[in-house]
Amino acid sequence: MLQGKQITLGVSGGIAAYKVADLASKLTARGAAVHVILTAAAAKFVGPVTFAGVTGNPVHQDLFAGSPDFAIPHIDLASRADLLVIAPATANVLAKLAAGLADDLLSATALAATCPVLVCPAMNAAMYRHPAVQKNLQVLRSYGYHILEPASGRMACGTVGQGRLPEPAVILEEICRLLQPQGDLSGLQVLVTAGGTREPIDPVRYISNRSSGKMGYALAQAALQRGARVTLVTAPTALIPPPGAEVVRVETARQMLEAVLAVYERMDVVIKAAAVADYRPARVAEHKIKKSEAALVLELEKNPDILGQLGRHKRPGVTLVGFAAETSDLLQNAAEKLRRKNLDLIVANDVTVPGAGFGSDTNIVKLLYADGRVQDVPQMDKLELAHLIWDEVLGLRRQAEQ
Ligand code: PMT
Repeated sequence: MLQGKQITLGVSGGIAAYKVADLASKLTARGAAVHVILTAAAAKFVGPVTFAGVTGNPVHQDLFAGSPDFAIPHIDLASRADLLVIAPATANVLAKLAAGLADDLLSATALAATCPVLVCPAMNAAMYRHPAVQKNLQVLRSYGYHILEPASGRMACGTVGQGRLPEPAVILEEICRLLQPQGDLSGLQVLVTAGGTREPIDPVRYISNRSSGKMGYALAQAALQRGARVTLVTAPTALIPPPGAEVVRVETARQMLEAVLAVYERMDVVIKAAAVADYRPARVAEHKIKKSEAALVLELEKNPDILGQLGRHKRPGVTLVGFAAETSDLLQNAAEKLRRKNLDLIVANDVTVPGAGFGSDTNIVKLLYADGRVQDVPQMDKLELAHLIWDEVLGLRRQAEQ
């Protein structure tokens, strides 16, 4: 079932490390190539010889100990992995991952990984309940990491509660599920754009907008969770792209157009959540514009309408979704954009309403369809809305196939 899969298995220092030797053995028996990273603390519980014995592969412990197959250990262990599993993940390792530290082989590998990451916390129940640990888990979830909740029961320290590492068979099942995405978007190539473009005025200034990228990143994350292959074309944001997405970073509308056109041919669905500047300075000053007593007049010229261009060259089988950020006449303006850009669906947000639009973690929208239907969507988390939008996209595609 796992034939040919490459799994990097990070083991950190908890008593449950002994169970992970069994997990490594089960993974190997099912055909996976398992590369174990032992932290210094883990090696106090179970020695490297055990893991080398059950996996048939050398065990990695040192950030700087390169070998012919793993010249730069943290990069090679990250880049060849189909899945990074961290079990048990101690409170200390969770804190390091959440903070983005990279001071040992396991944490550096986790930072370099672009594959899905499965984290299996295990610790004393009071430690697990501690707000610091729960906050770190929240942060890891927001990075798109999969968290396998610990089981409840009696722990090695004698206390009873939630904190036990799940049995190896349970972890194995989760690994199989993650490695064989059977989400309802599997087989689909989707393109999501996010963030606000920046249009330079001079080397230090630009015109932009208030988009944080949260809506677009949530759409990318939801699509990955449901098995799609995701390309995320993103204008600058403060967010970390969801692991597993192919990320193309751009700044200006024209760069975004180029990046979108470069991949459009192979896409099944395009969702343009990015806030694209409609205008850019006609001339970009070579040097920083100096302040003077006189008023400064900037001449702006029109940017290309990226979505409009995709709509004009719409291929059969492609689903095109746009967003409309409005401050008045929401339905009227959104309906006009839907028609003019030849879209299947437009997500209209009134960005003057608290809890909707730019920067917030939630959104409140209306969905307008090409057949004239309109659906009101109450305030919800952007990730939840992203899943709802993907549900609608799937519905439209099924309808089109009939
Ligand atoms: O990023 P967040 O902080 O989470 O905020 C989310 C959001 C408000 C940015 C998002 O929900 C949203 O509304 N995005 C679209 C904003 C926008 O540019 O709307 P528009 O009405 O100007 O454009 C309509 C559509 O055409 C959009 O899909 C846009 O990506 C696209 N467009 C616009 C102009 C242009 N030159 N090219 C385009 O492709």
